[in-house]
Amino acid sequence: MAKKTVKDLDLKDKKVLVRVDFNVPLKDGVITNDNRIVAALPTIKYIIEQGGKAILFSHLGRVKTEEDKAGKSLKPVADRLGELLGKPVTFVPETRGKVLEDAINNLKDGDVLVFENTRFEDIDGKKESGNDPELGKYWASLGDVFVNDAFGTAHRAHASNVGIASNLPSAAGFLMEKEIKFIGDAVDTPKRPFIAILGGAKVSDKIGVIENLISKADKILIGGGMTYTFYAAKGIAIGNSLVEADKVELAKSLVEKAGDKLVLPIDSITAKEFSNDVPTEIHEGAVPDGQMGLDIGPASIELFTKELAGAKTVVWNGPMGVFEMSNFAKGTIGVCEAIANLKDATTVIGGGDSAAAAIQLGFADKFTHISTGGGASLEYLEGKTLPGVESISDK
Ligand code: 3PG
Repeated sequence: MAKKTVKDLDLKDKKVLVRVDFNVPLKDGVITNDNRIVAALPTIKYIIEQGGKAILFSHLGRVKTEEDKAGKSLKPVADRLGELLGKPVTFVPETRGKVLEDAINNLKDGDVLVFENTRFEDIDGKKESGNDPELGKYWASLGDVFVNDAFGTAHRAHASNVGIASNLPSAAGFLMEKEIKFIGDAVDTPKRPFIAILGGAKVSDKIGVIENLISKADKILIGGGMTYTFYAAKGIAIGNSLVEADKVELAKSLVEKAGDKLVLPIDSITAKEFSNDVPTEIHEGAVPDGQMGLDIGPASIELFTKELAGAKTVVWNGPMGVFEMSNFAKGTIGVCEAIANLKDATTVIGGGDSAAAAIQLGFADKFTHISTGGGASLEYLEGKTLPGVESISDK
């Protein structure tokens, strides 16, 4: 990798600032998915094994007002991290000031500290998410070196990633390194055939990815709600299915540009309502009036399975249907199964919904890599430069 990694740093006796992405889902104060915490463990363990003092921080949710702070403390995350590490983790409910500075100065080699949600600094004028130079400088002053392991936040230029990196020697953590390797290699130097699978509700979220991958992938399989904007572009009836009317022309131009590379579903599982409690129907091609497409159908699963056969690189972002409802999960399961059966293929699943789907449906260990980045992995697939990565010191 062209960037320094944590192994390039001397960590012994050092105060090591570590930007992690602990933006995890919480329900009533309970973490409902701790993947991002688990994924950061190798870096944290390495730092403490090397005799460094690990000072961790992250944003959690979006905070604009004082009221937004409710339920967005990193305390439950620090507690979970302590359980996972099997050692005490000090939590400091501050983002700056004497209490935090004293706690950091009292750390011993191998200790771990987590401080409060960095976006609590956004209340007085977006200091964190606007990369306020003073804030980046202040946080940098709290440590000796900076490790950025927050791939999930790499598409944001925050004070806690880009800001600190411009004031301290920095390096990528192991998770950051792994994400860049798997997603970067898949897109830039793929073993062929290279198949991309793109799903999810909206074409608008995936335009940049489709445009970037048209010239790189051998095939792009489309699924999910965005299918129907493509159907509309091809003049296929869509009934009550989701459509982005203002993106139909763009979908038309993508279809023309991609030619045979773009493979659309050939049938849909439909229902009268967006509900798991109404009867479902299967329709080839057109969706009749009164019905909405909520998953790809069995013939599409067969088609996609055939297209995937022999693939050596697969990148997947976005579920094939409304997998959270059992009636509309078969398409996503079918694609998971097709990928699970591939031999000698590098298979990478983007973060967000598709990663959640693969994990929830029991296929987590069938992929070479499940990204912890939602927006970040999408922007990476779009070929964009990610400020969080860019700001890390070069080797
Ligand atoms: C994510 O979950 O995609 C990252 O943590 C970034 O969060 P954000 O979209 O609130 O900036």
